[in-house]
Amino acid sequence: MNPYLKSQKIGFLGAGNMAQAMIKGLIEGGISAKNIFATNRSQGKLQKLVETYQINALGSNEELIDKCDIIILAVKPQDLLLALEPVTRAFDEHKIVVSVAAGIRMEKLERYIQGARLARVMPNTPSLIGRGVIGYLLNDDEDNALESTVEDLFAPLGRIIKVTDEDQFEALMISCSSGTGFVFEMMMYWQDWIEEHGFSVEEARVMTIETFVGASLLAAQAREGVEDLQARVTSKKGVTAAGLQSMRELEIERALRISFEKAAMRNKEMAREIK
Ligand SMILES: NC(=O)c1ccc[n+]([C@@H]2O[C@H](COP(=O)([O-])OP(=O)(O)OC[C@H]3O[C@@H](n4cnc5c(N)ncnc54)[C@H](OP(=O)(O)O)[C@@H]3O)[C@@H](O)[C@H]2O)c1
Repeated sequence: MNPYLKSQKIGFLGAGNMAQAMIKGLIEGGISAKNIFATNRSQGKLQKLVETYQINALGSNEELIDKCDIIILAVKPQDLLLALEPVTRAFDEHKIVVSVAAGIRMEKLERYIQGARLARVMPNTPSLIGRGVIGYLLNDDEDNALESTVEDLFAPLGRIIKVTDEDQFEALMISCSSGTGFVFEMMMYWQDWIEEHGFSVEEARVMTIETFVGASLLAAQAREGVEDLQARVTSKKGVTAAGLQSMRELEIERALRISFEKAAMRNKEMAREIK
């Protein structure tokens, strides 16, 4: 872990699922619990975190911002602006502020958090088990120190990808965060079909998961691209070829592209709805 990060006080505004996954990763990566601080609206979760990791619980968000060098905004998007309103003046150019809230664009963050160095980060749900894709956008693209701080903060949660604008941020969110939901949708069809052929629910679940995991690991380890790997499992006029031909005739690609675009439209609509 970067020695700079070890010397910083890191504060979590909101101590839910994402904060908990990050705190676990940071402590396992060598950050001292005495440098980690958190607040939460209800007290139960906070107490549990203090008991599990011996981090410091604070009584107010003002105190958290005042005490910490790096502040992670880890509340739900609909709660974020409400949480920020009373503390907008507490930030200054010495603070690094990282928002993981989906739907709150950089320009809105800049209006509520003036002066601070800002990062907008999008971790997907597999981040909770350290296998995420984590995209991030900085308010100053040239701030290399901020870039490496964000990368170190999120490294325990998965693979990190820097994006350069809100369009790319949205594409990463839809393909990787909503994308996780889209993959689950396909897994459900897989499992249903297997169950219809006499396998138990558990057998169908294992067969589905291992097919997706196996294909993904093979793709991750192979030198060639997915297209070449697919060609290797497809013999001319064979069983797989017949299935693939049908998938292409049914225009699965087109259906998926339309779904991605619909998700992007909803993302834009939701960003407008968050006041
Ligand atoms: N979980 C994921 O897989 C995931 C993936 C990508 C991005 N994210 C983003 O991460 C953020 C957090 O998500 P999450 O899943 O961790 O949600 P969560 O489990 O509901 O945690 C949010 C926490 O914020 C607390 N909170 C709300 N208002 C507050 C305030 N004013 N001051 C202090 N604490 C406050 C809530 O307290 P209560 O105990 O009272 O509810 C709750 O514990 C969201 O913006 C989400 O978009 C999450």
